[in-house]
Amino acid sequence: MKHLLKLLDLSKEEIIELLDLADKLKYETRNHIPHPLLAGKTLGMIFQKASTRTRVSFETGMYQLGGHALFLSSNDLQIGRGEPVQDTARVLSRYLDGIMIRTFAQKEVEDLAQYGSIPIINGLTDFCHPCQVLADLQTIREYKVDFDQLKMCYVGDGNNMANSLIVGGLKVGMQVSAACPEGYHPDPQVLQFASAYQGFTLTDDPIAAAKNADILVTDVWASMGQEGEAEKRRQVFAGKYQINAALMGAAKKDAMVLHCLPAHRGEEITEEVFEGHAASIFDEAENRLHAQKAVLVKLLGSKA
Ligand code: CP
Ligand code: NVA
Repeated sequence: MKHLLKLLDLSKEEIIELLDLADKLKYETRNHIPHPLLAGKTLGMIFQKASTRTRVSFETGMYQLGGHALFLSSNDLQIGRGEPVQDTARVLSRYLDGIMIRTFAQKEVEDLAQYGSIPIINGLTDFCHPCQVLADLQTIREYKVDFDQLKMCYVGDGNNMANSLIVGGLKVGMQVSAACPEGYHPDPQVLQFASAYQGFTLTDDPIAAAKNADILVTDVWASMGQEGEAEKRRQVFAGKYQINAALMGAAKKDAMVLHCLPAHRGEEITEEVFEGHAASIFDEAENRLHAQKAVLVKLLGSKA
């Protein structure tokens, strides 16, 4: 594994290895056992979109691993004034040990990896959010026993989260159902991947998708960059694509709920369900730190 560009690139074994390492690093972090595995290493963090969790967890994670992280807003970088990503990649490769990038086009992340010579980590694109889903899988393992026995249901927009949940969920052996409205389906590349799995279903009926689910997941109706479509999307999604009491009723009695955050209460999830499942949702947020530290150690750590 040289980069983390998308979960499609990872094998099941690589994902499980990252989750095992994340659990170990979580234990050490919680017990104040130092692990300076990246002493002297630097991570550049390029942000073309806003962030709370990704920025803070990567920066804190690098510090806890003995390294250093640089916050690079695209507003301040020359990339924001049109310097090609190919040149940015080659320049930053001379200074840094790794780059985390949050941007719009997946191609930009893939180009950084192609032209640079250091590990690239995708911190969210319009296509996918692999770091988030590694944290989600870590959280699922903490609450449930065996991926092979689980059904995960995603309700809402077929966006970056849907894409990564479908790929990650199927790769580790879960059944995955997705309920998305017509016109808001997951990416064709993801549906192509999922078509090889018997355990995958796509419907426009959230109640059918949630039936007997062990895990219910949702995300915002309008993602970053789609602010102009928010009203139109509200009309499409409202009243149907929401985790609420009725949906919980269709799932297993002990079903857990995940949300990558930020959440819009009253839209994709009700206040009642959100607060009733705050424990797993905020464990999920915490696990961003641990899962990403595992990614950093794996990609930036010395191979010796
Ligand atoms: N879930 C997530 O990626 O959060 P941020 O946008 O705050 O980084
Ligand atoms: N789908 C959301 C996820 C935010 C973490 C977005 O892209 O804005």
